[in-house]
Amino acid sequence: MNDNKVYIFDTTMRDGEQTPRVNLNMKDKIEIAKQLEKLNVDVIEAGFPIASQGDFEAVRAVAKAVKKPAIVALSRAVKKDIDRAWEAVKYAEKPRIHTFIATSDVHMKYKLKMTPDQVFKQAVDMVKYAKSICPSVEFSPEDASRTDPQFLYKVLEGAIDAGADIVNIPDTVGYDIPEEYGKFIKGIKDNVPNIDKAIISVHCHDDLGMAVANSIAAVKNGARQIECAVNGIGERAGNAALEEIVMAIKTREDYIGCKTDIVTTELVKTSKLVSHATGMDIPNNKSIVGANAFAHEAGIHQHGMLACSSTYEIMTPESVGFKKSTLVIGKHSGRHGFAQHLKELGYDNLSEDKINEAFKKFKDLTGKKKIVSDEDIETIMNHEIFQVPEAYDLKYFQFSSGNTTVSTSTVEIEYKGKTIREASCGDGPVDAAFKAIEKVSDMDLKLKDYLIKSIGSGKDAIGEVTVKVENNGRIFTAKGMSTDVVEASARAFINAINRIDYEINNVSDKIQPERV
Ligand code: KIV
Ligand code: ZN
Repeated sequence: MNDNKVYIFDTTMRDGEQTPRVNLNMKDKIEIAKQLEKLNVDVIEAGFPIASQGDFEAVRAVAKAVKKPAIVALSRAVKKDIDRAWEAVKYAEKPRIHTFIATSDVHMKYKLKMTPDQVFKQAVDMVKYAKSICPSVEFSPEDASRTDPQFLYKVLEGAIDAGADIVNIPDTVGYDIPEEYGKFIKGIKDNVPNIDKAIISVHCHDDLGMAVANSIAAVKNGARQIECAVNGIGERAGNAALEEIVMAIKTREDYIGCKTDIVTTELVKTSKLVSHATGMDIPNNKSIVGANAFAHEAGIHQHGMLACSSTYEIMTPESVGFKKSTLVIGKHSGRHGFAQHLKELGYDNLSEDKINEAFKKFKDLTGKKKIVSDEDIETIMNHEIFQVPEAYDLKYFQFSSGNTTVSTSTVEIEYKGKTIREASCGDGPVDAAFKAIEKVSDMDLKLKDYLIKSIGSGKDAIGEVTVKVENNGRIFTAKGMSTDVVEASARAFINAINRIDYEINNVSDKIQPERV
């Protein structure tokens, strides 16, 4: 056994499924289990077979479908639960039964109504029984962190003698503080005489927000298996989040001194799959997998990131499966971040003056709007920073259309003192107008996107049309407005060809993004 390997025991489909209002069906469980196999977890706790027929069948299906990780079925320390668990898990390549009984005074007295001696005997007998039918057995003294340590040592010693390969020390109610829990694990290492015959596992709940910290403290004190759930889901406030545990161990290997075998680049995909299957959204600020985990908005941070990403990132977004960091352009962004974002939108080679002018207009807009989108920035660039002359001037247009006639459109456009008239038919009046304008321009145009929205309401609402037109591999965005939507469309097309014309004849600064 590798002494510094930490086994990752995933309980997303067992404790995770105990999240209020979460219900995973068999199909969900198989899909999640296959993804967990890709993630390379060591152990999958697939369910609690005695709890329902559905759970039994799901555990059995997972045991048959997934080969590499050990597959675990949970059972109380009761014979009929253990039999049911074995029935479900026996098809697995590496089956394991996880049996538990509570050992804290409060649980023994009020829930189990058993004396400590009875609990001790039940634990030992049931571990022995489970071991007689399954090659690998894990034992959990439930509510271990609130159990009298001397009694806990005795139960653990008995369970290991009875055949437990793994002893799990649950902080069932998320009560402990990291230093305290670390010492508790050390106490077990120092006081249970046969502890070196078993792996110490930990299972921490997040009621005080310490599940991950407690798990790491336990590893520092000798635990070598961590039970955790994707996105930290689980009973009440949830379990330790798998992705946080794994990345803490990887990022702080210098301090923790351990490793896992997790393929970390699969973390985001796994998190999204679990979020989708459980219907539980991932908060934007969720560590590791949240949408903002690698997003930077503050100007100082963006400046630092552009100079060297390790100024503000302790791990790379690629290492967890995100494509890249994002510099979020918003109220707190600085000029550096804004200029970089303009480049990403295709506005490269801008003069310093143009960037300053655009940055000022952008800052004015952030004072008025909560979210400034890329479209808003494009509008600033195309309509305020680069107002192009109207070389093509629409003088007249006409169309005819109906459900039984072919749509036709005629346009009259003035260009450099000449009046040009063209007509075309098309698939609807907008298409006909577009084709007639294309003929006038003699340019090679492809309409890539067309968006219409109404500004205002009622009969006299204005239609605003945005088009994205491709010319020679570059995309030009333009807008047109009118109370008549065909005219608004024609004006948007004319606007687009004016931009292209300007680009062809004048431009040193690019006026439009290249995003084909
Ligand atoms: O939280 C807990 O104690 C459990 C046990 C069944 C391991 O989930
Ligand atoms: Zn639990």
